[in-house]
Amino acid sequence: MKTPLKVGIIGNGSIGTCHAASCSKSPDTKVTALCDLLEDRMARVAADSAPTAERFTDYRKLLAHADVDAVFVCLPNYLHAPVSIAGLEAGKHVFCEKPMTISVAAAQDMVAAAGKAGREGKVLQIGMVWRQDPAAVTIRKLIASGVCGTIYHIRTTLIRRRGIPGLGGWFTTKKFAGAGAVMDIGVHWIDTSMFLADAWKPQTVSAVNHAQFGPAMRRITRAPSMSRTTPPGWCGSRAAHR
Ligand SMILES: NC(=O)c1ccc[n+]([C@@H]2O[C@H](COP(=O)([O-])OP(=O)(O)OC[C@H]3O[C@@H](n4cnc5c(N)ncnc54)[C@H](O)[C@@H]3O)[C@@H](O)[C@H]2O)c1
Repeated sequence: MKTPLKVGIIGNGSIGTCHAASCSKSPDTKVTALCDLLEDRMARVAADSAPTAERFTDYRKLLAHADVDAVFVCLPNYLHAPVSIAGLEAGKHVFCEKPMTISVAAAQDMVAAAGKAGREGKVLQIGMVWRQDPAAVTIRKLIASGVCGTIYHIRTTLIRRRGIPGLGGWFTTKKFAGAGAVMDIGVHWIDTSMFLADAWKPQTVSAVNHAQFGPAMRRITRAPSMSRTTPPGWCGSRAAHR
């Protein structure tokens, strides 16, 4: 892969801002294009991390016109599949944020598109970032060396103590997010467990759902302190979901 890799960041919200900042600090990447529906978000990311980047409010235009080798898809979950597939079809490497997408069928479409693009040397990577965590990499090596014996059971627990991010916006709307905590943070630990044990074919899956937050949430219509925006057409003007 030639470096610096020219990168486009599609979605300039909380995680897009982080990726832009990281890419701007690495000698291997240069942010050459930004895309968001909200121009002020692009302006902020440009000022902090990518002053010379071209700016687009339509990702299709970025894919067609911008000087980019790779794109980061940092959008609400329901857009991961269509935008990633469009990126691969446009001949770009794609880093798509987790969760991969919101349905098995859409995930299979992504895998098919990645297979095709792979023949042209393009890569689709899903943002399961714990696979790069030094502790996870070390534990995986230890397990592979046999020092832990046979792994026959992994139990994983994650508690978020900061409440529900983006309450009332796309993040807590099933149509846009796909699901709740499992889709958001659960995917990290499910993936990490399989990664650590190198066990990729679950035999059975079961779940228990607790709904304490759900009924309480219905009373809440607006969360002024939350930064996650809703997609257009969801609840009127931007101001309504700020
Ligand atoms: N890897 C991690 O640990 C991690 C952390 C945070 C978020 N994420 C994932 O990243 C994704 C984005 O999360 P976020 O917190 O940055 O959300 P966010 O709401 O802060 O940002 C999303 C951005 O996308 C923009 N957008 C929406 N529709 C668009 C469209 N059609 N075209 C262009 N821009 C559009 C919005 O204006 C917004 O700025 C989610 O899938 C989330 O799960 C991953």
